[in-house]
Amino acid sequence: MVLKGSFVQELSREKWFEQLQKNISPQSKKFDLMYSSLWGGYVTDSSMMVIPMDDHQVHRGDAVFEAIKFINKKIYLLDAHIERLKISAEKIYLPMKWSSQEIKNLLQELVNVSKLQSGLIRLFLSRGPGGFTTNPYDSVGPQLYVILTPVTPPSEQKYKEGCSLGRSQIEQKSEFWSQIKSCNYLPNVLMKKESVDRGVDLTVGFDAQGFMTESSTENIVIVDRKGNLCRPLLRNILKGTTMLRAFQMAESLIAKGVIAAIQERDLHESDLILAKEVMVIGTTWDVMAVTSYQGQKIGGGLPGPCALALNDLIRQDQLF
Ligand SMILES: Cc1ncc(COP(=O)(O)O)c(C=O)c1O
Repeated sequence: MVLKGSFVQELSREKWFEQLQKNISPQSKKFDLMYSSLWGGYVTDSSMMVIPMDDHQVHRGDAVFEAIKFINKKIYLLDAHIERLKISAEKIYLPMKWSSQEIKNLLQELVNVSKLQSGLIRLFLSRGPGGFTTNPYDSVGPQLYVILTPVTPPSEQKYKEGCSLGRSQIEQKSEFWSQIKSCNYLPNVLMKKESVDRGVDLTVGFDAQGFMTESSTENIVIVDRKGNLCRPLLRNILKGTTMLRAFQMAESLIAKGVIAAIQERDLHESDLILAKEVMVIGTTWDVMAVTSYQGQKIGGGLPGPCALALNDLIRQDQLF
């Protein structure tokens, strides 16, 4: 944006706020509230939903995060998300100043005061402000930032049609980095970019040994030719809370004859190509069938019974 007159003008507090409000994006206007441990409270004016420039989350990506869904004011898979946040934080030696219970209470309180009945909680645990170096000790201490936004899943029509998947060209994270849900998400950003550029809904990665990993923000699982529901080994992928829950509930689909068994094993590209069904699983999408891979139909080009049943199970689970 070009300011009229001088490019560099000092803004008074009032003028600065006026500029912030004038230039806020339409998407940001939909944010419901933001909490910051630096303030010890929350704001509902989206132009005030900011974090300091010298926070290590901003200039080094030195922070971990979670995206958690709430439905009818109930937070879904809260324990699993907080557990994963703790694991991410431990791996980067980021002290949890708050107990898991304190964080859970905070999130539930924020959901209770929110105008939204259902939505997404984005929770960030940051190294905190102080200095502009890589030195993690150069900070006033960890901070929590929480923002509540509407959740925008794909349309119901999309669930009936299924989505398209391509092969990613982006180098995949090693085991260590894939287990940390950090604000250093550049490989994921590039995977999303390539999918948009190529006109597919998502791309899926393969590691150096050719084993299937995941998509930019969802896990990928298959039903193989023998009818087994298979997920990749929990090695070079993030341990998706939705995938783990879906696999627990999938036991009931064996009895119903929808699947033969449940497996965790290395998956190659050929497994994907030959699969009866391929599915995308994650917090925002729940479970969606993949109906094409690299332009070739999967499972006849329509969502299969396992994808539909698992999506129903997850949606039912969210209501209780
Ligand atoms: C890289 C990656 N894989 C998988 C997932 C799915 O995880 P979840 O089901 O917990 O949303 C996410 C989303 O958080 C992700 O960022």
